[in-house]
Amino acid sequence: MPPGGAPCIAAGSFSSDFDLTQPELLDLLAFAAEVKRRPALYRSALKNRILSLLFEKPSLRTRITFEVAAKQLGGDSIQSIGPIGGREPVKDVARNLSRWTDLIVARTFKQKTVDDLARWSGRPVINALSDLYHPCQALADMLTLKEHWGGWHGHKLAFVGDGNNVAHSLMLDCARLGADIAVITPPKYEPNEGILGQARGFAQRNGCTIQVTNDLAEGLSNADAVYTDVWASMGQEHEAFDRARLFAPYQVNIELMKLAAPGALFLHCLPAHREEEVTDAVIESKTSVVFDQAENRLHVQKALLVTLLAE
Ligand code: CP
Ligand code: NVA
Repeated sequence: MPPGGAPCIAAGSFSSDFDLTQPELLDLLAFAAEVKRRPALYRSALKNRILSLLFEKPSLRTRITFEVAAKQLGGDSIQSIGPIGGREPVKDVARNLSRWTDLIVARTFKQKTVDDLARWSGRPVINALSDLYHPCQALADMLTLKEHWGGWHGHKLAFVGDGNNVAHSLMLDCARLGADIAVITPPKYEPNEGILGQARGFAQRNGCTIQVTNDLAEGLSNADAVYTDVWASMGQEHEAFDRARLFAPYQVNIELMKLAAPGALFLHCLPAHREEEVTDAVIESKTSVVFDQAENRLHVQKALLVTLLAE
């Protein structure tokens, strides 16, 4: 057991948000706050451990924070950038890596690739973004919201834009931590029905709500945080032109922020396309916490690594 006592993740991996039970999610976020407060205690927590970082898509925050996390915890990492499972089946990639390294972090086009790595590697696997989820991002966001709100219950996050991977992970985490969430999208860009159904189940048990709407005023009403993401995600660049027209009314600008509660926070996972999904005035405003989110990627991922690799 590392110093400070890491919590436990029974699933042994973090291939999607579903790998954490509600108590595990709460424990992990509390542990992340502790790792952030007292980093020196965890300097050797990953001694002699090596991470495989596999990226099928570009990354700044995720790639660098995992590298920094491994080094600050006394371990190391190696990277592979490019398709996973192109030269050989994913199950063979998984079984090779597991002979050399202790944990796999993977950013993939398809969730199935992450699931297959977890199934075949016999090592912990962390989802670093797939088509369906961005669970490490949501952990950082929930920690950031708690730091600014003081807690999650009785607060409301409004996600404006595409019902995408980031929206899915936020819905699942808000629903389990007791925050209300509204997902406001153009018609036909609502979140995945199956994931929404599961998030609604969590919300019902935790006494909070999930609103999915195309109506900005309805969704933003009483929101004390507003979140947006790019309109065309990585791999959807060919749709960017059409999406720009459909999403234009959903740009997060000063007028849109007025529909939320006064002083509402602004969040974005980054990278941001300024003057598309968000104006420069909003992202640079005093209620913008986008760099707190980026910083917290490091702390939550350190907590996750220590937890998944705890003896
Ligand atoms: N937010 C996020 O995941 O950023 P990167 O794509 O730069 O990793
Ligand atoms: N939805 C975006 C998030 C980037 C961090 C994408 O998948 O490209």
